[in-house]
Amino acid sequence: MNILVTGANGQLGNEMRVLSETHPKHTYFFTDIAELDITDKAAVSAFVADNAIDLIVNCAAYTNVDKAEEDEATAMKINADAVAILGGQGVKVIHVSTDYVFSGDEHVPCKESDPVAPRTAYGRTKYEGEKRLLAACPEAVILRTAWLYSEYGNNFVKTMIRLGHEKEKLGVVFDQIGTPTYAADLAAAIFTVIETPCWHPGIYHFTNEGVCSWFDFTIAIHELAGIQNCKVSPILSEEYQYKTPRPHYSVLDKSKFKKTFGVEIPYWMDGLKRCVGKLKIEN
Ligand SMILES: NC(=O)c1ccc[n+]([C@@H]2O[C@H](COP(=O)([O-])OP(=O)(O)OC[C@H]3O[C@@H](n4cnc5c(N)ncnc54)[C@H](OP(=O)(O)O)[C@@H]3O)[C@@H](O)[C@H]2O)c1
Repeated sequence: MNILVTGANGQLGNEMRVLSETHPKHTYFFTDIAELDITDKAAVSAFVADNAIDLIVNCAAYTNVDKAEEDEATAMKINADAVAILGGQGVKVIHVSTDYVFSGDEHVPCKESDPVAPRTAYGRTKYEGEKRLLAACPEAVILRTAWLYSEYGNNFVKTMIRLGHEKEKLGVVFDQIGTPTYAADLAAAIFTVIETPCWHPGIYHFTNEGVCSWFDFTIAIHELAGIQNCKVSPILSEEYQYKTPRPHYSVLDKSKFKKTFGVEIPYWMDGLKRCVGKLKIEN
């Protein structure tokens, strides 16, 4: 297959690039905004035709949750209008969405069939992207994920390692619960979808296994990174001046993905160990 991976310079895109080396039977086209702006319909159609693309894996997105509140129009252009463009190319699409389509007020893990109620501009634009993709391309696969980190790009893990070296004490919220997800494990899940002989369209939830708070996550990051001189304390969300409301409980039920594709998913701490291990080798 000829596979186009968009947003290839982001966290997930880079992990797709790394993992593609273990799937050499396909030909890959890794692009980011400089090579292919997914909001440019003519450019997308030309790229798909010129390179006989069979499958698009969309890793491109407007991911800055706070900035999206101030500029929802731009977020909508990238997270919804462009996703509809990708869906209109007459090829299969694997797209990535977010736990932010839910309100975050739940107390049990969300299933794919649960009602959505996005509370943020980012969540609204991502939900709009899901709807418009499925309308344009009913064969699409959408993977909703959460709390993504990787050795590439900026993310919570890298920020907490930096702050752990810079500061003697740090307050981190303990009243927001979710599942940290290693982008390499999400990339592996995308390859599972690609390699499964029978195509199973629809929406799926994919994160690592287990749950924790941002506070617990930070403690684990510091332990694995060998940071000992920074005291991490639990604080309430109201003590941290968030620009945008954050979900209190944002856990996704992954049963459908595991059952459909017959896979086990790594525990979040296992993913974190692998990522911090790679970051240690790099530094
Ligand atoms: N990060 C999370 O915690 C999280 C949580 C839940 C779901 N997700 C979803 O997971 C997916 C992957 O996220 P990620 O963290 O890997 O994102 P990321 O690191 O922000 O990467 C997104 C990439 O898309 C590029 N891009 C932006 N606009 C584009 C355009 N018009 N055309 C082509 N490329 C464009 C970005 O370039 P610039 O950097 O230059 O803008 C960036 O390289 C996204 O769909 C995201 O919504 C992420």
